[in-house]
Amino acid sequence: MANDNTDPVLARRTALAVLGAGLAAGCSTYGGTSASTPAAPPPAAGTELGAAADVPVGGGKVFAAQQVVVTQPAAGTFAAFSAICTHQGCTVDAVADGTINCPCHGSKFAVADGSVATGPASQPLEKKTVTVTGGKIRLG
Ligand code: FES
Repeated sequence: MANDNTDPVLARRTALAVLGAGLAAGCSTYGGTSASTPAAPPPAAGTELGAAADVPVGGGKVFAAQQVVVTQPAAGTFAAFSAICTHQGCTVDAVADGTINCPCHGSKFAVADGSVATGPASQPLEKKTVTVTGGKIRLG
C-alpha cells in the first residue's frame, strides 16, 4: 500500500486559496485607484484650442488636453466632437483618411458628423460647439 503525503484534494484547495487571495488583492487595488481619481472638469466655453490653420481640410486635429477633436470636412466648415470614445472611454488619438480613430479597440468615426464608421463603438461621438474667429478655434 503506497502512502505518500500528497493529497490531491488538499493541494487543489491550497492552490485555489492562493488564487483567491491574489484576485482579492487585485480588486482592492483597482477600486482604490478609481475611487481616488476624479474626472477632470470640461474646459470652459471660450477656451482657445488652437489655430484653424492646424486643422486640415478633410481631416482634423485632436486637442487631447481639452478632450476635443476638431475637424474641417469642407474648406471653412468646422465641426467638433468630444475626444472620448463612446465604446469604453479611451481618448481618440488620430484623424486620418476621413475618420477619427480610437487606439484602444479600433473604432472609427466620420470627420463630417462623428458617426460610427467602424465599431465596436455603436454610438457617435458627442458633438461640441466651436467658433472660429481671427484664425483661432474656441469652444463655443
Ligand atoms: S474605447 Fe475606443 S474602441 Fe474601445
